Amino acid sequence: MSLIELKNVHKTYGDGRSSLWHKPGALAVHALRGVDLMIGKGEMVAIMGKSGSGKSTLLNILGALDRMSEGEYLFDGTKVRIDNPSRAAAFRREQVGFIVQDFALIEDMTVYENVALPLRQRRLRGSVIRSRVGGILEELGLADKSRKTPLELSGGDQQRVAIARAVVHEPALGLADEPTGALDEETERGILDIFCRLYETGRTIIIVTHDRNVADTCGRTVRLRDGRVEEEAP
Ligand SMILES: Nc1ncnc2c1ncn2[C@@H]1O[C@H](COP(=O)(O)OP(=O)(O)OP(=O)(O)O)[C@@H](O)[C@H]1O
Ligand SMILES: [Mg+2]
Repeated sequence: MSLIELKNVHKTYGDGRSSLWHKPGALAVHALRGVDLMIGKGEMVAIMGKSGSGKSTLLNILGALDRMSEGEYLFDGTKVRIDNPSRAAAFRREQVGFIVQDFALIEDMTVYENVALPLRQRRLRGSVIRSRVGGILEELGLADKSRKTPLELSGGDQQRVAIARAVVHEPALGLADEPTGALDEETERGILDIFCRLYETGRTIIIVTHDRNVADTCGRTVRLRDGRVEEEAP
């Protein structure tokens, strides 16, 4: 069964209903125009397309960060209902790990505390938190940096921490928006290796990217053009 099934998904910004940013009557932007997409469990998928083609919009809908204007989103066969804030929050907390380009780490917390945060929010026992955080820091090569704060780290290490934090609660779905955009080539390779390892452990990963190297690493590429799925290379 597909993990993700999108049916005729539309997203319009600025129609006065679905966005905080626009006043009613402001010019509408039709960011997604009928996206149909199936993604299987354990797939690693790149989403490509020109700037403004709707990639981030699509990712935000997949992560239940934003509502769609029309259409349906099934996750593991169940409808995702973002109009119910507590269910949407639970979905994000339990199923999704979000990795963004600017890392969004908390600067006055240590690496360890940043990564532990999602587990504390889930109120897991202290011993469970210690072993999971220790495990993922080890796995991502961050064990010796656990007491540093984000600003003491290189960009690549900061991105590693952001990935650790995004997957420490073992979400079914990892979403990454331009995760290597700000990194040099060698660091990018290291980050891609991490995604590949996560993929090999059975996670479903969707990466928005402009970078051919990143897309080539993924098993499948979905290309967006003007808010529609245009083509998929095999
Ligand atoms: N919050 C918003 N309010 C209004 N319009 C928006 C909003 N977010 C995105 N848009 C518009 O929706 C369209 C799609 O934007 P989106 O950010 O999804 O593109 P993208 O493919 O991620 O582009 P990029 O590669 O530059 O990140 C663009 O025309 C953009 O200006
Ligand atoms: Mg974007």
